Amino acid sequence: MSDSVSDSPKLTRRPQWAALEDHRAEWHAHLRDLFASDSGRAERYVVRVGDLRIDYSKNLVTDETLALLQELATATDVFGLRDAMFRGEKINITEDRAVLHTALRAPAGAVIEVDGENVVPKVHAVLDQMSDFARRVRSGEWTGHTGKRIRNVVNIGIGGSDLGPAMAYEALRAYTDRSLTFRFVSNVDGADLHEAVRDLDPAETLFIVASKTFTTIETITNATSARTWLLEALGDEKAVARHFVALSTNGQKVTEFGIDPDNMFEFWDWVGGRYSYDSAIGLSLMIAIGPDRFQEMLDGFRIVDEHFRNAPAEANAPLLLGLLGVWYGNFFDAQSHAVLPYSHYLSKFTAYLQQLDMESNGKSVDRDGHPVQWQTGPVVWGTPGTNGQHAYYQLIHQGTKLIPADLIGFARPVDELSDELKAQHDLLMANLFAQGQALAFGKTADEVRAEGVAEAQVPHRTFKGNHPTTTILAKDLTPSVLGQLIALYEHKVFVQGAVWNIDSFDQWGVELGKVLAKRVEPALTEGADVPGLDSSTAALVATYRELKEV
Ligand code: F6P
Repeated sequence: MSDSVSDSPKLTRRPQWAALEDHRAEWHAHLRDLFASDSGRAERYVVRVGDLRIDYSKNLVTDETLALLQELATATDVFGLRDAMFRGEKINITEDRAVLHTALRAPAGAVIEVDGENVVPKVHAVLDQMSDFARRVRSGEWTGHTGKRIRNVVNIGIGGSDLGPAMAYEALRAYTDRSLTFRFVSNVDGADLHEAVRDLDPAETLFIVASKTFTTIETITNATSARTWLLEALGDEKAVARHFVALSTNGQKVTEFGIDPDNMFEFWDWVGGRYSYDSAIGLSLMIAIGPDRFQEMLDGFRIVDEHFRNAPAEANAPLLLGLLGVWYGNFFDAQSHAVLPYSHYLSKFTAYLQQLDMESNGKSVDRDGHPVQWQTGPVVWGTPGTNGQHAYYQLIHQGTKLIPADLIGFARPVDELSDELKAQHDLLMANLFAQGQALAFGKTADEVRAEGVAEAQVPHRTFKGNHPTTTILAKDLTPSVLGQLIALYEHKVFVQGAVWNIDSFDQWGVELGKVLAKRVEPALTEGADVPGLDSSTAALVATYRELKEV
């Protein structure tokens, strides 16, 4: 890194920050004017990476804005931190860990060292182990305890050990082996496991227990209940070895749980949970789509890794998206960012990004532990676009908040749809394009009047427009394209964390709730006294106990 991050001046005292503040203060342009005065805007404000075409022309930026944002990126040494990450330096300072999810998709011959050890051979050894296992399950060679073929795969995990594989399984359903059933259990609410297994034959069911630490209470509780469910049906402890495998960094805990270490697929502490679905955590996905498709997905990730590493600032897609978020969050007071995929297959995409972005950048102290004087990560939200149009788009169009949004769509529907269903794709995409247009350009009061609308109604039917969107288009939603999309957002989040000078790779904010839940649980189960409980929580606990007994 050229500039020591910890010595860096406070972000808001940088001259580049002040220049952006001045620029913002003078900002009056409407997207209508920006397009009217610049016929080349739509063509110029496009960046391509791999199969993705990213149109950022409908953002509240000019060439000057982009130049100022890039100067801020230079001043905050975003690319220096990026290079340190790719080199395997321990940039997760509070946990003293390297951040090397990029090594998970590195080619076999690459050399990436952590503490003097090349980690790439280990990555490929686990990929080979996963491929072998996935092939055996898919072919029926791996059977359950009774000799029956595995027909159901249940992934038990939470957070990064659930959202990634669950999201990617949905995204790539068209590539999955449809003769297998996949379920994803995460919630410690027993209803989740109950609904996942109630119609399954235990003799045909494989549980994949996914947990980086193998101490996460939700996962261990569900895995224990799953084992009981299995053993009640099969009646033999030996069945566990054929029906349970583990994905973890913690071999000792896996063994203690009773899973054969031979059935453990390893990853390492330099893979963050929310960055882990292209590690062993993706085993359920690999069984679903097969090792070759999984490799295509990893290759997709790598395309964007290489781009992020090598593309110049002005054509660097993750840098650009990250800086646009900084522009809106820090200079327009935008509190949230909507991700709106126009693809049913991406129904879990935004939920996945919520963890990626909000667990990474939901921080309020900088890397030195000082309170930040600037906004950090936004609230990320959204659902597939057409559904959202009939729910919350009203607020984006005519509400009082600025909500930058990403619109994501594909030129072609998946092959297996009938011709009639394929024909619906144009309508789906017409909606995406129409929304981008309506959000940007709106409808003026004069345009409303020209339609003969009564004057009293005009304010209600006027759309002020000027709502920024970025449109990401690709030909098809393939495994490679999914990998490209995820890597794009991973690096976008990285860029923002670097600018804000926060540690994007720890997650201390989730710890307190875990500790308190453990403390309160005995009060719920046994009525035990919990010393120091506040009066509100004590009353809630008492009410709960009363109601539960009735
Ligand atoms: O919610 C906190 C967290 O640590 C996430 O970062 C992680 O993805 C999740 O819990 C699950 O952790 P594990 O994979 O160790 O069970």
